[in-house]
Amino acid sequence: MAVSTVSVAPAPAGGASVVFDPVVPSPAPPVVVPVVPAQAPPAAGRCVPRPRRATRPTALYGNLRRPLYPVIKSESVDPVRNPYAPGAGQRPPELAGRDRELQQFEIVLERVARGRPERSMVLTGLRGVGKTVLLNTFKSMAMQRLWGTGKIEARPDQSIRRPVAAALHMAIRELAPRHRAPERIEEFLGVLKAFAMRDPAAAKGTSHWSPGIDVPAARGRADSGDLEIDLTELFVDAAGVATDLGVGIALFIDEMQDVQAPDVSALCAACHELSQNGGPLIVVGAGLPHLPSVLSASKSYSERLFRYARIDRLDRDAADLALIAPAAREDVEFTPDALDALYEAADGYPYFVQAYGKVAWDLAPRSPITAEDIKVSAPEAEEELAVGFFGSRYERATPAERDYMHAMAQLGDDPVPTAEVAETLGRKPSSLSPARDSLIKKGLIYSAERGVIGFTVPHFGRFLRAQPL
Ligand SMILES: Nc1ncnc2c1ncn2[C@@H]1O[C@H](COP(=O)(O)OP(=O)(O)OP(=O)(O)O)[C@@H](O)[C@H]1O
Ligand SMILES: [Mg+2]
Repeated sequence: MAVSTVSVAPAPAGGASVVFDPVVPSPAPPVVVPVVPAQAPPAAGRCVPRPRRATRPTALYGNLRRPLYPVIKSESVDPVRNPYAPGAGQRPPELAGRDRELQQFEIVLERVARGRPERSMVLTGLRGVGKTVLLNTFKSMAMQRLWGTGKIEARPDQSIRRPVAAALHMAIRELAPRHRAPERIEEFLGVLKAFAMRDPAAAKGTSHWSPGIDVPAARGRADSGDLEIDLTELFVDAAGVATDLGVGIALFIDEMQDVQAPDVSALCAACHELSQNGGPLIVVGAGLPHLPSVLSASKSYSERLFRYARIDRLDRDAADLALIAPAAREDVEFTPDALDALYEAADGYPYFVQAYGKVAWDLAPRSPITAEDIKVSAPEAEEELAVGFFGSRYERATPAERDYMHAMAQLGDDPVPTAEVAETLGRKPSSLSPARDSLIKKGLIYSAERGVIGFTVPHFGRFLRAQPL
């Protein structure tokens, strides 16, 4: 039976290697390559997981690969060459469906470098939609333009003073070799050191941390102890160094919703000051969907400071591309109904796309990967998600918090009013505030709007409904 397949591009020469795996028989015409003795074929209609084994192709196989490939196509799904990358911030083999954001950021970089007024970008979205990946891609784009770059990951229990100092240190180190006046760099490093040394923990003598800057700390700049004043002065000076080189500086803040409230306020004020004097320094953030409300609660002008880009699940074309483009580079294809089944399972969420794609590849006996392969592999992918993606988060919740989330899950998958959660639990809303607040702090739920909460993790409600209470 002929199988129609979907592919995007011819495989690049020299990309893939063919594995002669005897477990699954090749379709006719038979190929006589006596590599290892043949074994019994799998039961009809069932895909058998291929044993993992060393697949280092010899030179002979390498040379035979091209002419033999059309004949032995069935053997091309090699777990060693599995391209999919379910992980945290892990670069996907194909960054699908983010062209609009990439274009927008190109414009931001160009305008800021030219001293044009421009709002910086803040990416928001649920867990696993690809915020960190996009932030890292933005960082690479800025580096390609020879900007200085630094990145921090905010933590709820930590002031941003030290991480920001370390990130700007990195950014300046990138610029320093190209600067013609080393004294300008030293002057800035002195200010940076003074800024870093005003860390509250250092002041209390509870920290032996040192910023690792050799020049003496400056006096009277960025060292007042008031983060708003200090950040503003530090940013203005850093922007000055970048201006000398005709470039900019980009500071990336991941998990930005975790920046402590006074620090958010200081950060916004410093960005506001910079936007007024056109300094080429931008702060690019990423965080959970309630990040805009965290920012506007701190400074009402924050929505004029940042351009919010909501990062969502991938549409059908982008999700297909995320799967078939990396596969095509390895000479592997998917049947259209396999792609239908994968989209139904992953629902377009990038982490799920990678997770289901990875297991389907590992378990598929041959290319093209079929709907039957997806059916066979889906339970294993779900099992892995249940343990790693959902389970690890669920375990961080206390029994009271779990009850709260189970009540939310009973009400559906969309954000729900807190009053309804209280009603489901037969409790007064105020008595549930500690559980709710702590779940928000742990990043498991977020306040979608006033009095309404939702899960930060896609499909979490579905996962909870399948758990025993
Ligand atoms: N555009 C994309 N196309 C294909 N895969 C993607 C895309 N964006 C992200 N991924 C994949 O999704 C997974 C999650 O990405 P990432 O860690 O960036 O998400 P996140 O939004 O930062 O999640 P969290 O909120 O938990 O930090 C990674 O495995 C990554 O490879
Ligand atoms: Mg992330």
